[in-house]
Amino acid sequence: MSRQADPRGFKRRIMQPKTKTPAQAAASGAFTLPPLPWEEDALAPHISAQTISFHYGKHHKAYGDNLNKLVEGKRFASMKLEEVILQSSKDSADAGVFNNAAQIWNHTFYWQSMKPGGGGMPAGALAEKIKADFGSFDACKTQLAEAAKTQFGSGWAWLVLNKGKLEVVKTGNADNPMIRGARPLLTCDVWEHAYYLDFQNRRPDYVSAFLDKLVSWEFAAANLAKT
Ligand code: FE2
Repeated sequence: MSRQADPRGFKRRIMQPKTKTPAQAAASGAFTLPPLPWEEDALAPHISAQTISFHYGKHHKAYGDNLNKLVEGKRFASMKLEEVILQSSKDSADAGVFNNAAQIWNHTFYWQSMKPGGGGMPAGALAEKIKADFGSFDACKTQLAEAAKTQFGSGWAWLVLNKGKLEVVKTGNADNPMIRGARPLLTCDVWEHAYYLDFQNRRPDYVSAFLDKLVSWEFAAANLAKT
């Protein structure tokens, strides 16, 4: 399978890697974690292998394990992950399913939003769209940084396409802009578990590292091209 596979197709039939990671080997339900798109130490020194090991191998894996338990014998078990998120978001009684399903999706999307040697500037159609909708790349980047820094508590900062226009939004906990009709193009995890081992309480430094050294504008461009 492609290591850039779309997390919307998060089902075993298209996400089965040739060699199972420990996280995949431990999962046994309908939903399994796709492999990381790079090695655990690939984002160092900005994000350490230890952070990635815990973040992917413990936190991300737990969301998968929890979801598999929650959907057992329920209508959600046969749905694609994105459909689980959309359907479970409609009823507060399904909050547990929503939180774990969305956190699986959000993290898979976050891994792909970063790459070794990332940062820099977007090119092509994404660069043109950013200039048209934000006025400049710097304005877009500043909005993304502010959203990531100012999200109160746990959550996410996103670049999305909403009604044909690029926007920056922030969401709390597991929330995902897709449930309000926007299409995510890029995300930054601002839960403390994403940065505390490397940056402690210095979330702004983590956000700077994400935007200056790690962000994959190619991933955002590929997502824009699919819309
Ligand atoms: Fe996270």
